[in-house]
Amino acid sequence: MKLLVTGAAGFIGSTYVRLVKDEHEVVVLDKLTYAGRRENLPDDVPLVVGAIEDPVVVREVMEGVDAVVNFAADSHVDRSIADQEAFARTHVIGTGNLLDAARELRVPRYLQVSTDEVYGSIASGSFTEKSPLDPSSPYSATKAAGDLLVSAHAHTYGIEAVICRGSNNYGPRQYPEKLIPLMILNALHGDSLPVYGDGRQVRNWLFVEDFCRGIHTVLERGRPGEAYNVGGPDECENLEVVSRIIELAGGDESLIEHVTDRPGHDRRYSLSSEKLRSELGWEAQVRFHEGLRRTVDWYRDNEDWWGPIRSGEYREYYEKHYGRALG
Ligand code: NAD
Ligand code: TYD
Repeated sequence: MKLLVTGAAGFIGSTYVRLVKDEHEVVVLDKLTYAGRRENLPDDVPLVVGAIEDPVVVREVMEGVDAVVNFAADSHVDRSIADQEAFARTHVIGTGNLLDAARELRVPRYLQVSTDEVYGSIASGSFTEKSPLDPSSPYSATKAAGDLLVSAHAHTYGIEAVICRGSNNYGPRQYPEKLIPLMILNALHGDSLPVYGDGRQVRNWLFVEDFCRGIHTVLERGRPGEAYNVGGPDECENLEVVSRIIELAGGDESLIEHVTDRPGHDRRYSLSSEKLRSELGWEAQVRFHEGLRRTVDWYRDNEDWWGPIRSGEYREYYEKHYGRALG
């Protein structure tokens, strides 16, 4: 297949491209926001720099492709709370533009990469694909709007579109605004570890390569018009995650600092992947303790990757958001 992969200069999309590029022809469209970097992509993969909401560039790059896989997003909940505008533009206008172009150009297959956060928070049990969408942050609300546009296009125009909803990902090349890479880099530097509120929130951790395998399985064999959950094998409270990072990266528990909680903070996410497992045979292969060890090792060995981030725009973001400078 010839694949158009959007947003693949970021964390998950670049992992996906590495997984599929030897078997498929890949072209990437990415706007290169603060989270997107050319060096995340293998050298032999062509990158077109542009936005998914741009009708002209999208039609140019989509001509002749067999499938579109849309990762493009603003992906951080805290930034969406500070300013939602880019989130709405990319997730709603951008997704709609990709779908319109896919319909006009008769692209045979479209996959929307989405998140468990569209279901909101769940106190016990796990969300299935039949659970109602009940998003609570501007990030998840705009992702849910994108999902609904995908379903509407499949229903109305018969586009062969599928949706993959992943739980919290972690692994190499994740921008260090997210919990796991932020805590790893701060622990390696002896900086304080800012835990929101009581730190008892629960996330369902999924190693990024497992998510990418799930996405590709659904692209190849998912039923058109359907959504598939891709959940991690382990659930953990944030404080437990931070303690394990301290064990692996060094430092001690006195680095933990409880800071003001995120407004509207979702308490627990949990996904059932039973549909994907029973229909398409996908299983997560990497347990959290193993994936976390691999992730800490990767950050320890790849200062070339994170050094420029920690000395750039990120420092200002960090200072503004946490009210203190990085050490
Ligand atoms: P990321 O922030 O690392 O990367 C996003 C990429 O999209 C960047 O390269 C950025 O430059 C690009 N982009 C942003 N706006 C764009 C636009 N308008 N046009 C073109 N490119 C644009 O994000 P990620 O963590 O790799 O997430 C990828 C996808 O997976 C997103 O759709 C996200 O909602 C979804 N997802 C993420 C997680 C997670 O834990 N990170 C979990 C489930 C689902
Ligand atoms: P995050 O990585 O932002 O992912 P999401 O909000 O999409 O789940 O956050 C994961 C969890 O970690 C979430 O409960 C918020 C919490 N958190 C902190 O306690 N401190 C931090 O500095 C960050 C970034 C997140």
